[in-house]
Amino acid sequence: MASETLFEDSFGRAPEKVAAAPGRLEFIGNHTDYNGGLVMGVAVDRGVTCAVARRKDDRLVFHSGEMAVEARSKIGDIVPLSGDASWANYALGVFDQLLKAGMQAETGFDMAVSTTLPFGAGMSSSAAFELSSGLALGALYGFEQSTADWARLGRRAENHFVGVPCGILDQGVSAFGLKDHLVRIDCKEESFARVRLPEGLHFWVFNTGVKHALLDSLYATRHKECMDALKILQQSEPSLTCLADTTPDVVRAQSEKLGPVLTKRALHVTEEIARVQKMQELLGSGDLTAAGALLTASHESSRDLFENSVPELDFLVEQLRTAPGVYGCRLTGGGFGGAVMAVTGPSFGENDAATVSKAYGEKFDHAPSVFHTLSGDGARLLD
Ligand code: GLA
Repeated sequence: MASETLFEDSFGRAPEKVAAAPGRLEFIGNHTDYNGGLVMGVAVDRGVTCAVARRKDDRLVFHSGEMAVEARSKIGDIVPLSGDASWANYALGVFDQLLKAGMQAETGFDMAVSTTLPFGAGMSSSAAFELSSGLALGALYGFEQSTADWARLGRRAENHFVGVPCGILDQGVSAFGLKDHLVRIDCKEESFARVRLPEGLHFWVFNTGVKHALLDSLYATRHKECMDALKILQQSEPSLTCLADTTPDVVRAQSEKLGPVLTKRALHVTEEIARVQKMQELLGSGDLTAAGALLTASHESSRDLFENSVPELDFLVEQLRTAPGVYGCRLTGGGFGGAVMAVTGPSFGENDAATVSKAYGEKFDHAPSVFHTLSGDGARLLD
């Protein structure tokens, strides 16, 4: 249901502002963002829409068609919600950050949230929710800032309110997305650029639905391993500020000090950054075969060096890499479950996807959910 209709049904009046923001696929650059590296993502043509209107009291009320649970909070007492209402924390965290950034809000709001992006589908519905709620609330209370600052604010909400130490990839892509383009982020500079996609590329997402029980803590563990590797490398090169400042050769030279685990993590990050750079050249020259091979190489590095893949993702990649019409494929996003992205030409279709799903279903006891998606536009206010 559209968020305007949901709003009217839920609150008995029309919304004052509506904003939409897309989900994303991590195109290439796995776990490079919080290491100051390069990453490329694509905004998809599915996302989250938030409709809002002011209330007369100090309450903050959230309705979602998906969650079917009302979440409530109030100005002056904004703390993370728990249990069934915790889905609203992304928007509540954004509101909290908006107040910290100087937005004035004397009274509360009602918000209705609808999505064409299933939660947990590996396409970053959380960033889409942060960006769409932020733009809608900013418009409602008269607060403006640059696109880059919207991305940063969404990330702060996720880091400090939801408690996930993610980088700027998801929010940056949701904010800067543009149809037929990738968003390239230099995470050290926090600069955002758009790179034109060659024509005729399609994205297929195979979501395993597998979620490692320790997902959040494993993400945090990898984050910490990268920071530990950096500290060791700084002993011989104090000017390093992040792993992106060093190279695979330096990492190899320091492997005794780093030990086997941190060597693998740091090698993955530094080599992956080089792959992102190479990808830009290959897309520029239109060499889709080589670009596809680089995507698959990225997956292998995540699997072997960063160790954030799972057998379900590896199986999908093995099936897809040789399927007709597929340029390349890899796990997309944090890993430890989640989804594989396949980049294909227009000839890859439902039947090909069904063949892969069937093979997967025979090996594992469930089918993946499959989405075909194209690139889409970034976060925006709707009239
Ligand atoms: C998740 C995080 C991103 C990024 C990826 C891995 O999607 O939210 O910030 O770290 O994992 O590249």
